[in-house]
Amino acid sequence: MGAEPFFRMQDIDKDYIMADEPVHVLKRISLTLEEGEFLSVLGPSGSGKTTLMNIIGCLDTPTAGRYTLRGREMETLDERELAGVRSREIGFIFQNSQLLPRLTACKNVELPLIYAGVGHRERRRRAEAILERVGLADRMDHLPSQLSGGQQQRVAIARALVGNPSILLADEPTGALDQRTGQQIMELFRELNAEHRTIIMITHDTNIAAHARRVVHIIDGEITEGGTAHA
Ligand SMILES: Nc1ncnc2c1ncn2[C@@H]1O[C@H](COP(=O)(O)OP(=O)(O)O)[C@@H](O)[C@H]1O
Ligand SMILES: [Mg+2]
Repeated sequence: MGAEPFFRMQDIDKDYIMADEPVHVLKRISLTLEEGEFLSVLGPSGSGKTTLMNIIGCLDTPTAGRYTLRGREMETLDERELAGVRSREIGFIFQNSQLLPRLTACKNVELPLIYAGVGHRERRRRAEAILERVGLADRMDHLPSQLSGGQQQRVAIARALVGNPSILLADEPTGALDQRTGQQIMELFRELNAEHRTIIMITHDTNIAAHARRVVHIIDGEITEGGTAHA
């Protein structure tokens, strides 16, 4: 693969048109990442974090700029190919765990594998293994309503990991949790990173960002520090 880094954004812009006027939400974002990094993108509300996450996760496309993942140029992919990149390469974690309320923890974790066509026994085996990894061996058959907020977020982390994605992409993963539970989730992220999981975590909380091995700041749509430290 030569010199091309695992993840590279070059001069990414995102504009929204509001009342016929373009609003520049992301301004020439450049960022590179190697596999195994734990990066936090820290910025205040409205700075463009979720917009950036949506582009990283191929849920949205930039107005300008170049984004490559494992050497693949995202702007050359059609909607179907982008959906493939999303499901294979990205494990999403959101502020609210977004579990399906009528499915057990295990079934929630199995869901991405159902879409990937993995057979019943193998699904169950993999879901159980990853739920054990996040500390929920004794909660497999609980419904989300029977779990604490921190446990629900662990199920969401297991669901994000079960397909073995290239990047764990988290948007304010502790935003709905009390401080102590949030710290425990950060401990889990650190352990996962020590096991070579690549993590990109978006947050407005300095204490949470400090758990990452590398922090970049986003302010008013611009990355202001360290964005190309590995370039
Ligand atoms: N779909 C959209 N249309 C127009 N403006 C948007 C849209 N999404 C986000 N914005 C604007 O982009 C800016 C950044 O939003 P966002 O990425 O959600 O920030 P953050 O996640 O850092 O709070 C905000 O000013 C927001 O109003
Ligand atoms: Mg946001």
